[in-house]
Amino acid sequence: MASIDYTERIPNNVNLGEDRRLQRALEEWQPKFLEWWRDMGPHGFQATEVYLRTAVSVDPQGWAQFGYVRMPEYRWGIFLAEPEAARVIPFGDHKGRPVWQDVPGEYRGVLRRLIVTQGDTEPASVEQQRHLGRTCPSLYDLRNLFQVNVEEGRHLWAMVYLLDAYFGRDGREESEGLLERRAGDEDKPRILGAFNEKTPDWLSYLMFTFFTDRDGKYQLASLAESGFDPLARTCRFMLTEEAHHMFVGETGVGRVVQRTCELMRERKTDDVRRHGAIDLPTLQKYLNFHYSVSLDLFGSEISTNAANFYTMSLKGRFEETKKNDDHRLQDATYPVTEQDGETMTVREQPALQSLNERLRDDYIVDCQRGLDRWNRIIKEHGIDFEFRLPHRAFHRKIGTFADVRVSPEGRLLTEAEWGPKKRQWLPTPEDEAYVQSLMQPVTERGTFATWIAPPARGVNSQPVDFDYVRLA
Ligand SMILES: [Fe+2]
Ligand SMILES: [Fe+2]
Repeated sequence: MASIDYTERIPNNVNLGEDRRLQRALEEWQPKFLEWWRDMGPHGFQATEVYLRTAVSVDPQGWAQFGYVRMPEYRWGIFLAEPEAARVIPFGDHKGRPVWQDVPGEYRGVLRRLIVTQGDTEPASVEQQRHLGRTCPSLYDLRNLFQVNVEEGRHLWAMVYLLDAYFGRDGREESEGLLERRAGDEDKPRILGAFNEKTPDWLSYLMFTFFTDRDGKYQLASLAESGFDPLARTCRFMLTEEAHHMFVGETGVGRVVQRTCELMRERKTDDVRRHGAIDLPTLQKYLNFHYSVSLDLFGSEISTNAANFYTMSLKGRFEETKKNDDHRLQDATYPVTEQDGETMTVREQPALQSLNERLRDDYIVDCQRGLDRWNRIIKEHGIDFEFRLPHRAFHRKIGTFADVRVSPEGRLLTEAEWGPKKRQWLPTPEDEAYVQSLMQPVTERGTFATWIAPPARGVNSQPVDFDYVRLA
């Protein structure tokens, strides 16, 4: 069961060959996906050989195989984590009953929406990142970008499998829709805000993989608890791939910080822009931006939808099964930060309605761990500077703070106060132009752009100066 059948047109570990209807539906979708990939996938690198990993089994040990692949020939397929024997629904109204192997009729619409919303983010990020290849800071980074891109493509396959296998005709229409929307398109935008933003440079990309892919981790982890077992198993395997995306973000930003700190020491100056690096205050501004738009992805603090997803046993909490409570939350409360006149206050709210906020809290703790590691690099260089996560109300567009101006410290501001200050807190057009000016391709083996340090080690025990992407 764990091994993946690569003799099939669509690699899978779900015995696709035994379900002719589903196989036909997916085989019809496959060429449309490839057409989308050619149109919207990495621009200018469709014929290039890239050192990529491909999943060969879903075992925790050694599921990956590395080798040179041209991206359109990547073996995208359908991989679910192993079923858990006698798994029962861990939360909500159906807690304690055997998990569903089919979609419960009354939840069909809601479940489809959940899957489509998750699925939509996967191709969106590939579209957002499609022009980055030509300004790569190194072959190592270029390879990692493409690895993330093909895996986001596979995540799209994962969601399309669920739609086609369990939602009949509606599901097939949604599968087509996932290939029709476009990140940032005025007429057919992607569903969620952060996935319509531009990823114009590599700093934005590294911040995106740290902050926005991490939202993905938390969404997938709560769906991995779902009473609908095929969704739970799909998400569990996706999480193993997602871990690499966050590794790219965390180590990537860490290497930028490293480079900046090295230059500050060597040249005895804070003005590292003169030496082609990115100063720490600018990094803080990029961090503020990407963190705040990613916080929005969790949705409103108080949400009936979130309560319903939980009560229906469709979407759980992060690490639901590790929590020691009744897993129903009908009478429980949860502390939620709110604006109270001129100040911020924390009030107990019904736990069910506050599930978005709770997931956001788990996410914030995780982000802080990454910042701590970056701060350690700064400290090791003896530099007096610390990255801080801005207040949760800073620069929000969704939820209770959407209409207020708040400083990174959490102080409420008037519009007049915000105007001149925001230049200190968010990237200015000049900052963006500076970062953009650094985006010169570096494609010589083992060489890195001026603004980023080499990684501590290469991919799959290969040396750092390995030929990760074979450019003609
Ligand atoms: Fe993904
Ligand atoms: Fe991802």
